[in-house]
Amino acid sequence: CVKEPLKVMISGAPASGKGTQCELIVQKFGLVHISTGDLLREEVSSGTEIGNKAKEFMNSGSLVPDEIVIAMVAGRLSREDAKKNGWLLDGFPRTFAQAQSLDKLNVKPDIFLLLDVPEEILIERCVGRRLDPVTGKIYHVKSYPPESDEVKARLVMRPDDTEEKVFAFWTCCSLAFSMFKPYSRGFLLKVKARLQIYKQNSEAIISAYSDVMIKIDANRPKEMVFEETHTLLSQINLNRMIKTGKT
Ligand code: AP5
Repeated sequence: CVKEPLKVMISGAPASGKGTQCELIVQKFGLVHISTGDLLREEVSSGTEIGNKAKEFMNSGSLVPDEIVIAMVAGRLSREDAKKNGWLLDGFPRTFAQAQSLDKLNVKPDIFLLLDVPEEILIERCVGRRLDPVTGKIYHVKSYPPESDEVKARLVMRPDDTEEKVFAFWTCCSLAFSMFKPYSRGFLLKVKARLQIYKQNSEAIISAYSDVMIKIDANRPKEMVFEETHTLLSQINLNRMIKTGKT
């Protein structure tokens, strides 16, 4: 029998660990990872028309206009690999209008994973996040440091996590980090703006998927969070196999 592909949505505040969990889910389940943040960052770095429009919104921590993101996701979901292997939608929908657009296309997830992390932890995760521009892997200076000096040397911060002057400030103050928590005003404004936008929209999104929503305590090591995610997704696959076997 042909296995029906999994359709998964993952949601949560900025830095709740969506990208980190997606890496692990893709490795295990082979789903097509569709991250609106990653797709937009690619458009920005390639200097496309979409990227030029999106850049300003992203750098200030605001949402990119719905029509741009909706067209991008609809196009990606309609590709053959997503239909065949299943998908993992990360960072979409983020507004009620985006959820409605999926509804119109009759796109429904099997499960909606909501990563739950307290706000003070989210800020600390943004401060320490680093990205490997070569592999796309996500690290954290304290919790998940890079495995080699070679990787460490090429890590970058995301522009919506900080500003240049804050980067210099952080380099100087890294030793004092745990004692003084020296967040600059510019940094906090950006991160807090992203958290605020998330809070404003999250209720409407969650209510659209309440029938398939599972809240996960994501304030635990990534391996523990993944253990729970893995069990949930495996259970869906198992239930399908039982159902298919019976019919
Ligand atoms: P996007 O890239 O989606 O950003 P985000 O939602 O703010 O989420 P993040 O990527 O910041 O965090 P994450 O949850 O993936 O956490 P991560 O795994 O990196 O979007 C960026 C921008 O694009 C938006 O601001 C907007 O402008 C635009 N955009 C995107 N989608 C849009 C849409 N649908 N509509 C309109 N605009 C859109 O982890 C964070 C850190 O924590 C890392 O350092 C990691 O190592 C660490 N960490 C992860 N898990 C753990 C753990 N369990 N324990 C300890 N540390 C951990």
